[in-house]
Parts: sequence; C-alpha cells; structure tokens
Amino acid sequence: MDTERIVRTFVEYYEERGHRRITGSTLLPPPGDPVLFTTSGMHPLIPYLEGRPHPLGRRLVDVQRCLRTTDLEEVGDPTHLTVFEMLGTWSLGDYDGRQSLEWGYGLLTEGFGVDPGLLHATAFGGDERSGPDTDSLELWHSRGVPVELTVEDNWWPGDSPGPCGPDSEIFLWTGDGPPESTPTRDARWVEVWNHVMMSHRRLPDGSLVPLRRRNVDTGLGLERLAALLQGRTSVFECDVFEPWRRLVPGLWPVDEP
Ligand code: ALA
Repeated sequence: MDTERIVRTFVEYYEERGHRRITGSTLLPPPGDPVLFTTSGMHPLIPYLEGRPHPLGRRLVDVQRCLRTTDLEEVGDPTHLTVFEMLGTWSLGDYDGRQSLEWGYGLLTEGFGVDPGLLHATAFGGDERSGPDTDSLELWHSRGVPVELTVEDNWWPGDSPGPCGPDSEIFLWTGDGPPESTPTRDARWVEVWNHVMMSHRRLPDGSLVPLRRRNVDTGLGLERLAALLQGRTSVFECDVFEPWRRLVPGLWPVDEP
C-alpha cells in the first residue's frame, strides 16, 4: 500500500465516522506562538482543544507536516525523521478514548490488514495526576491485545504547557520470530499510533488543572506506518523517499567523508 492510498484509506475511514477533514497548517506557526515549528497535528488545534468551538464541528481528521527537534538525537535510526507527516484525528468533547481506540484497532486490522496478533498496547497506570486508564485497559482486553501499564511514557506531552493527558499507544511487532516481551523492554515493538485522552491543561508553572471538556487527540506517523505496511525495516526505505534514493546517489557520492 503506497502512502497516497494509506492517506486516502485513513481519511475516508474517519469521514465515514462523521469526521471532517481540515487542512494541515504551515510548518512555521503564526507570530507569537511559543514553538518555533509545528511539532504535531494537535499544535494548530490548541485553541479548540482548550474550548473554542471549531467551525467544522467536533470530529476532525487531517494530515499535518511536522518538525520535531526533540527527535534530532534519534534521526538516522530506522524509525525517526525530523520532518514527517502525521495523520491525526480529534474528538473535541465528543466521543471518548475507548471509542477512539476501537476505531484505531478496526482501521489497523481491517483497513490496513495488520495481523492483530502482532499488536501490543500501553496505557497509563495511574499516579497522583489521574487514576489508571481503565477504559483503555478494558478495550484492549476485549480485543485480546496485550497491554503494558506505564506512568511517564503514557502521559502526553511529558511536561510542556498546554492541553495534555493520559495516552494509550499502539505498537507493532517488527521482530522475525513470534512477538515477545513488551514495548518498554524490546525495541522491536515499534510505536505506530498514540491516542491521547486530553483531560488536563498544564500551566506554565507546571501545575495541572482539569479541562472543562475532555478531548481525544491521536497521531500516527505516515512514513513509519508506510515502512511497516510495505515490509521495510527503515522509514528511509518507504515509497516517500524512492525518488531521492534513485536520484541522490548519482549526484552526490555517498562514500565521501
Ligand atoms: N499529539 C500526540 C502525539 O504527537 C498524538 O503523539
């Protein structure tokens, strides 16, 4: 499945479930924005996640180009890019996290044909910020998907100001043999999709206040998903980079220091 078809399948799946497609924003946020670059699909939507009504309603889907300097140290490994596209969905005070995960599981297994036996989930185990994410746990148990509970890895974003909350991440097994171990212990589990149940707002002093309205924010890296669905071991080998793989080596000898 090439990236064009992945995007179409993704957007149509959510449009059939009442979502409206919005246009991705520019990579450079407007003046006055506290970040230098758009880092995730949710970034341009922060005012709406904090309560402003969105003109297209409460269910949204999009494709957003992102630039993550936080991942710079990891660029060059098989799964991270500095600039990538993120497929995203939002429930602005509409359906809950459980519904979001149910649709996510349905799209991965039926829409994209992922073997359900190769999936693992993680979910928030609970701390002083919020109790354990029992809704996500129940959903994964009902689907027979193993779940690992963590605290720090399942709160998004970690500590920057703005809307945030517990998340449940979906991983795909990329090892040669049958799946083993868990996502925090074995890097062959590759994260494909993050579903954030946005329940709080982090203030600049670090404190958390509950949001008046709960939202769900999900994000899935397009190139990473494409590499996995295309049976590639690295994001650089997916179809997006095919023209560069073909042209650049002839222009620029890659073995020169
Ligand atoms: N905003 C969430 C993320 O970027 C979905 O992981």
